Amino acid sequence: MVSTKTQIAGFEFDNCLMNAAGVACMTIEELEGVKNSAAGTFVTKTATLDFRQGNPEPRYQDVPLGSINSMGLPNNGLDYYLDYLLDLQEKEPSRTFFLSLVGMSPEETHTILKKVQESDFRGLTELNLSCPNVPGKPQIAYDFETTDRILAEVFAYFTKPLGIKLPPYFDIVHFDQAAAIFNKYPLKFINCVNSIGNGLYIEDESVVIRPKNGFGGIGGEYIKPTALANVHAFYQRLNPQI
Ligand SMILES: Cc1cc2nc3c(=O)[nH]c(=O)nc-3n(C[C@H](O)[C@H](O)[C@H](O)COP(=O)(O)O)c2cc1C
Repeated sequence: MVSTKTQIAGFEFDNCLMNAAGVACMTIEELEGVKNSAAGTFVTKTATLDFRQGNPEPRYQDVPLGSINSMGLPNNGLDYYLDYLLDLQEKEPSRTFFLSLVGMSPEETHTILKKVQESDFRGLTELNLSCPNVPGKPQIAYDFETTDRILAEVFAYFTKPLGIKLPPYFDIVHFDQAAAIFNKYPLKFINCVNSIGNGLYIEDESVVIRPKNGFGGIGGEYIKPTALANVHAFYQRLNPQI
């Protein structure tokens, strides 16, 4: 049997399979379900500082080769996930879990990360850079200047193991430029990829999700070659300690 054991940032996992942020991880009940499955670990729904209702429904739809969604970051707020993880690390100290987070502004991101830094959390933190930042500007990870600035600010105070969740890139020059930025910082991991942004699915002359006139992130079989390309492109470019 091939072993599916792996390690990330020096933490060992019995199995390399886990959920992705946003899938089966919004509530403690769902997180317990992933924890008690064969998965090696789990990642929480991306937490913002406060509870968010998210976008109006329908905001997710299964489509023939995957899914389209515009959830709008519904989540129970940082404390819900952090309190659960702090409790869990006392109950199951041999296992390591991921906390996904991002603020609705750079200021909120720093507030959240400082709370995590000051807490007793000993797990891995995943900063979701594939989300909107400022209206009229692309999502953070497509704005290299902002990405560089946020990472520089974060690593001025954040000393716990931190990685970033990335949207897909599609151009070799963008792989080069993004990797050059990531290599400046002591990132412990990167996660490729978030959904391909702003797809549009039409069925019976109608869009299938309500927010954004039907535009939404695409996941599933549609994006697997893009996901693999991103994993490999960064494997080739990033410093070995990542
Ligand atoms: C309903 C839904 C909610 C998601 N929420 C988040 C999220 O909160 N944070 C995040 O980083 N990615 C989120 N994602 C993206 C997934 O984690 C994953 O990166 C993406 O769906 C691509 O993987 P797939 O092809 O297996 O679907 C979400 C995806 C879906 C379908």
